[in-house]
Amino acid sequence: MIKTWAWPCAWPTSSTERTAKMRLRLIAGAALVASILSASGLAYSHSGATGIVKHRMDAMSDIAKSMKAIGAMIKGETGFDAAVVKSAASSIAGHAERIPELFPEGSMDKPSEALPSIWEDWAGFTSIAKDMGREAKELAAAADGASQIDQIKAPFGALAKTCKACHSDFRLAK
Ligand code: HEC
Repeated sequence: MIKTWAWPCAWPTSSTERTAKMRLRLIAGAALVASILSASGLAYSHSGATGIVKHRMDAMSDIAKSMKAIGAMIKGETGFDAAVVKSAASSIAGHAERIPELFPEGSMDKPSEALPSIWEDWAGFTSIAKDMGREAKELAAAADGASQIDQIKAPFGALAKTCKACHSDFRLAK
């Protein structure tokens, strides 16, 4: 799903054609980010949660907020700020380390969307949490001193893939 943008044909010669292509490119970029964000499951549903379930829903929401802030830069809604990307990504990496302790066995009290598969395949679950931590660190490293948004797009996409990978196996589908 996440591909680097490739020109379908040679650079157009006329300037109107070029403007049209650039607009298309922008739209394609925005659609890409929108699909990444929706695939990441940025939907909040944790009203009424308590205890550890509330804890981890809050953590996930915080992770989602960081992803949205970076996504807004990629969409061009906000200006690129490498320092913000770096701190958002580092915050996600911190959350990744705490994922195992946020999922004690059998903790599925309503309105939790956690699936029993988490504890049936604990190794798989925690390995995706590690992937998320690693990709978040990569993103933070890419953002360090970056001058252009393009420098962070690929690592952002790689990080977003880990959200989807975990949610599709371990979170209730809606
Ligand atoms: C290792 C597995 C795993 C990874 C990685 C993961 N999530 Fe989740 N996420 C879950 C599970 C499980 C739930 C459901 C928790 C519950 O309801 O008890 C969840 C819930 C959520 C929620 C809903 C929170 C709420 O309040 O209901 C959001 C938003 C979310 N994740 C965003 C993300 C984003 C964005 C990423 C990637 C940057 C991500 N998650 C990575 C497992 C994961």
